[in-house]
Amino acid sequence: MFDNKLFQQLLDTSWVGHELILLEEIDSTNNYAKQIARAVPGTIILAEDQTAGKGQHKKAWDSEPEKNLTFSIIFTPTQADRISLLTLACASAIEDVVCKHFENCSIDLKWPNDVICDGKKISGLLTEVIHNGNKVDRVIVGIGLNVNQERFEGELNKTATSMKVISGKEESREQLLCDLLVRIEYNYQRWVNNSIELVKEINPKLQGYGNWVTLEIDKEILPDKTKFLGMNELGSLQVLNKELGVDTFSYEQIRVLVD
Ligand code: BTN
Repeated sequence: MFDNKLFQQLLDTSWVGHELILLEEIDSTNNYAKQIARAVPGTIILAEDQTAGKGQHKKAWDSEPEKNLTFSIIFTPTQADRISLLTLACASAIEDVVCKHFENCSIDLKWPNDVICDGKKISGLLTEVIHNGNKVDRVIVGIGLNVNQERFEGELNKTATSMKVISGKEESREQLLCDLLVRIEYNYQRWVNNSIELVKEINPKLQGYGNWVTLEIDKEILPDKTKFLGMNELGSLQVLNKELGVDTFSYEQIRVLVD
């Protein structure tokens, strides 16, 4: 079981994670985060087991109980534009922390919400914006990070990996979460401040950045290749078309297919 006391001792953030709601079992930590009446900014909801963990596009997020990190962070920004950028700012934080644990491994980000390690998914993020009337009430960033799971069933066997599969080492989930939250807090502040440095840091981490790639929009593959220019400061995806014009997409239904 996740050791909340140890986590509190190790935590070195200014505000993120100061409230931790630890649940043994829940349908989805994102759903739980939506239902809290007056949430303290930076509250974490962490579950040892999710019975209906959600991924993008109504896919399920499956995670072996007590082995991994499945949690949601509640943010309360005044505006909820540049959400793709916030998701990738958190993904980039995950990449930085996970990278530190490995000597040699290729790890990068896949637009719009995956962290890929040695060609397999190690982490996925699901960001949801909750409105109160026409105001933003909160933004929930749900994170699944495969930590100590050793085996993946069925199709996941080909597509998913974990820190333990890669390094052979058991990780302290408490220490890992603390390290993640420090970096996420830092990147969140940069996101709030519209830091161009944040965008510059993320772009080279994106799969296909600077290459000619194929785009899939709403499951339809575009016939011509485009050069992937990464994100602009608004978090929109930009590509150079074959007429050398820049096309901008602020749409998460886009997939960048890397050959
Ligand atoms: C994806 O890969 O499409 C996103 C996966 C997001 C999974 C996390 S686990 C914690 C949080 N609660 C959920 O139900 N989903 C997110």
